[in-house]
Amino acid sequence: MKVLGVLTGGGDCPGLNAVIRGVVVRAAETHGADVVGIENGWQGLMEGRTRPLDRDDVRGILARGGTILGTSRLDPYVHGDGYESIRETIKDNDIDALVVIGGDGTLKTAMQLHEDGGVPIIGVPKTIDNDIAGTDTTFGFNTAVEIATEAIDRIATTAEAHNRVMLVEVMGRTKGWIAAYSGIAAGADVIVIPEIEYDLDDIAAIIRKRHRRGKTYSVVVVAEGIDPPAGLEMEERIDQFGFVRLGGVAYAVGQEIERLTGFETRVTVLGHLQRGGTPTAADRVLATRFGVAAADLAAEGTFGVMVAMRGTEIVPVPLSEACESVRGVPPEIYNVAETFFG
Ligand code: F6P
Repeated sequence: MKVLGVLTGGGDCPGLNAVIRGVVVRAAETHGADVVGIENGWQGLMEGRTRPLDRDDVRGILARGGTILGTSRLDPYVHGDGYESIRETIKDNDIDALVVIGGDGTLKTAMQLHEDGGVPIIGVPKTIDNDIAGTDTTFGFNTAVEIATEAIDRIATTAEAHNRVMLVEVMGRTKGWIAAYSGIAAGADVIVIPEIEYDLDDIAAIIRKRHRRGKTYSVVVVAEGIDPPAGLEMEERIDQFGFVRLGGVAYAVGQEIERLTGFETRVTVLGHLQRGGTPTAADRVLATRFGVAAADLAAEGTFGVMVAMRGTEIVPVPLSEACESVRGVPPEIYNVAETFFG
């Protein structure tokens, strides 16, 4: 490997800069390679927006949120001619290995480019949603859970002071990892996730029972990806790249809970707070390990794979394995959460 390209695609996530730093330092210092940073995800490859990255460029970025390279949801297959739209930039920059840090969409595109154009790609799984198959976890998830847990803890005290039911909506798209983990960590009274069908009457019964036992408040954690309550269809919103925009379903759920229980109910949607700012120590370590492992795989010429966490090890898994499904919360985790409902 002489020149290693690196890009970050999709929604940002705490730890992206730690991966970039890991890739650059390992590739340059251990493997003697040059590193080219590609700006704004696939867009940079399509438009030839690149810049050299050396050790000095990545000093001081380990703890920084966001990504120094920028990111976008532009996709060469959706917004271009697939491999043809990135061929020139790869050739012009003599890129002979490419590290792609992204979520399921970005990794799917990476797999296609590897298959169609033989692009020598290594994926790094990134998302606060923790829903990528093939790896036990993704960096960014731990940070999002910490932020959500702190928020739920804070909301519980004001809920108690005002005798209210408080709903906290967290991110996660179609999966409920952030809701399940932050809900367990903060001792939520009910957790609603897309993987488990919910019944508003059951939720109202749990809250009423809790209040009969002398508790004057309840905290309900709601994953953004759940279906709205029956009869309360929500308008579908699409972003500029054609992705469904989630967020706000808890308002409809809260309205119904207030109607069914008669308890004053308030809703907080945490939104992008969960994605911004500095990564936790655990995410900094995981992201650094992923970055280093990706540079090592590039140096040994192993492509078409994603670095993955399996137990305590970082291992390569085929990109196809990462792309074949979206990983949901297993029933046993939800079962643990349910034990403490009410
Ligand atoms: O996939 C990460 C994520 O943060 C989801 O949890 C959330 O639904 C989505 O991205 C938000 O995306 P955007 O930044 O486009 O609003």
